[in-house]
This record gives sequence, C-alpha cells and structure tokens, in this order.
Amino acid sequence: MLDHEQVVVRSGRRSRLPVIVAVHSTALGPAAGGLRLWHYPDWRDGLTDALRLSAAMTAKFAVAGLPSGGGKAVVALPEGMVLDPDRRRDVLEDVADTVESLGGTYATGPDVGTGPDDMAVIGTTTRHVFCRPARLGGSGDSSPHTARGTLAALRAVSRRLYGTASLDGRRLAVAGLGRVGTELARLLAAEGAALTVTDVDQDKRKTGHELGADWVAPDEILAAPVDIVVPAALGSCLTRQSVTRLRCDAVVGPANNQLATPDVADLLHRRGVLWVPDYVASAGGVVHAVSVEVHRLSAEEARARVDAIEHTVTDLLTTADAQDLSPAQAATALVRQRLAAADPAGRSA
Ligand code: PHE
Repeated sequence: MLDHEQVVVRSGRRSRLPVIVAVHSTALGPAAGGLRLWHYPDWRDGLTDALRLSAAMTAKFAVAGLPSGGGKAVVALPEGMVLDPDRRRDVLEDVADTVESLGGTYATGPDVGTGPDDMAVIGTTTRHVFCRPARLGGSGDSSPHTARGTLAALRAVSRRLYGTASLDGRRLAVAGLGRVGTELARLLAAEGAALTVTDVDQDKRKTGHELGADWVAPDEILAAPVDIVVPAALGSCLTRQSVTRLRCDAVVGPANNQLATPDVADLLHRRGVLWVPDYVASAGGVVHAVSVEVHRLSAEEARARVDAIEHTVTDLLTTADAQDLSPAQAATALVRQRLAAADPAGRSA
C-alpha cells in the first residue's frame, strides 16, 4: 500500500540525476522536510529513503505540535560521484524546479549533504524553501537548533533516569560528527559530560580531540559502556543484532530513521533500554525554522519552542509509563491521534 499522498521521481533536466520528492502527508499543513544529497548504490535506495524520511517528518511535526506535513527530497548520487560547483548548481536548480512545480504542497530545507548556501540557490527559483542564510531573509542553518533540541530531549531522559536534568559528569557516546553531531558534542562537553565519539570520516578525529573525547571505531560505538548512546549519523543503526550489544541505559539522538525495522523498538524496550523516537528528539531544526519563517516568532521565542522538546519528552515518558507502553508506542499513538484530529476521514493516518 502506498501511504504517501504524492511521490515525484524525475530525471533532472540539467543534471540528469534522479530527483525524488516524497510528500507523505499534508493532513496537518503543507509538507516540509529537508533535501538529502547523498550517495546510494541504486537510485531506488534513494526512493526508499525518501519514503521513510518523509513519513518520519509527518510524525516529527505531529509530535512537535506544528501545523506542517511530512515530506522529503532526495537526490540519489551514484557511489563515488563528486559534484563540482557547476554540477551542484544544476542539481539544486533541478530540485528547485520540482519543488516549485508542487505549488507549495512541499517546502524543502537542509538535510544530510545540504546547507543554507544550497537553500539560497534553490530560493532563486522557488519561495518554498526553509533555512536560507539570514542575509537573504531565511532562518539560517538548522543544525545548531537540532542539536539544542536533542540536548533538551537528553535532559528529560536524564531527569527520568538519574533524577537530574544536568548532564555534568554523565558519559555519552556520540555516533557521528556531522554538523548536528559536532554541535551537540560541543554542548555536552561544555556541560561537563564525558564523551566517546566516532565518525566514518577519520579526519573528524581532530574534532574529537578538541572536545577532549575518546575516539572509538564506528562499529564499536554502540557497544560503548556509557550512560546514553546518541545516534547522530545516517539511519538504520539500530538493528536486531546491534541492540543486543548495547551497554547503555538509553539511546537518544538526532539521526533520522534510527531503527532498521520497526520491531527493534520493542526489542529495545524489552531489554530495558530507553529509546526516545528519533522524530521526537530531532525536531529542533524544523521547530526553529517553522517558528521563525512561518509563524514569525522572535529568535528567543523560537528557542523556547526548541527547548520545550524537554517537556514533550517528559510527557511522552510519563504517558508511556501510565499506559504501560514503550515510548515508541506512546509516540505512535500521539501521532495517530493528532493526524486523526486534523483529518477525521483518516486519509493520512
Ligand atoms: N533535516 C531536517 C529534519 O530532518 C529538515 C528540515 C530542517 C526541514 C529545517 C526544514 C527546515 O528535520
């Protein structure tokens, strides 16, 4: 069954690369979600990614209580392809054409492989774009806000597990030092947390060193003996196999689509590992962008909304407990309820 409202796959007019836009649901409002510019063995893997990522955006907005729907764009680059600046511009203009052709049903933003400067290029063709640089009237880079929102989620979990929202002295393993992972690691280090970090890019060792963090190989990070594991890289890291190796109390991070398959959430729960669904913990970026660019809130108000993720997570954990559900089940129920309230016909639930 196709549970998406609309999926567009086009060969880019200029780049000849597969441009994919998946609109999962507009039940709560126009869809939004980032543009992922990434390598895939086959473009169909990019399509699969777009389908899953856009559904996660629907859930992200629903839990965050924002009137937006879920979408995502993916340009599937062949393995090993390096985009020179001209070709990159071609790709971005192809994406912009596709976004514009959807007439506002979907607005794009940054994601893995893209940033504010790319949004500036897209913004010359379509106004349905978030996170252009501030000098062009956008809300700028979303990653610091995603990091801040994840920290808020971590505080809620810390209070729950250890009786304090402070992460001072806590041990955390951050898997992935991209834009969000690095910023989050900085915030954690500044607060006095002891960090173990990794990235597939060996050059990031330097960043780890600057943070005073221990470095382990990527395939060892999940098994690190820490309080909380923080997935901050690409998705599907939590598999039936990998969760058996966990030695932490909780897994909470900004990476989208952390579960390889949905049943892994139950497995985590049975093993007594507290998992906060990625779409709950990672909402800071979109919460900030939508608050500033759609709702015209001040920077301060937008920040307060991002920090409110702490309460969202606290409420979720309380509800889960009261109803004897896992946090994942409680979050799914909340998403269903919010979508059904907006769309009583149940078209997008
Ligand atoms: N990459 C962001 C996310 O996954 C997507 C995004 C950020 C979309 C900001 C719009 C604005 O949540």
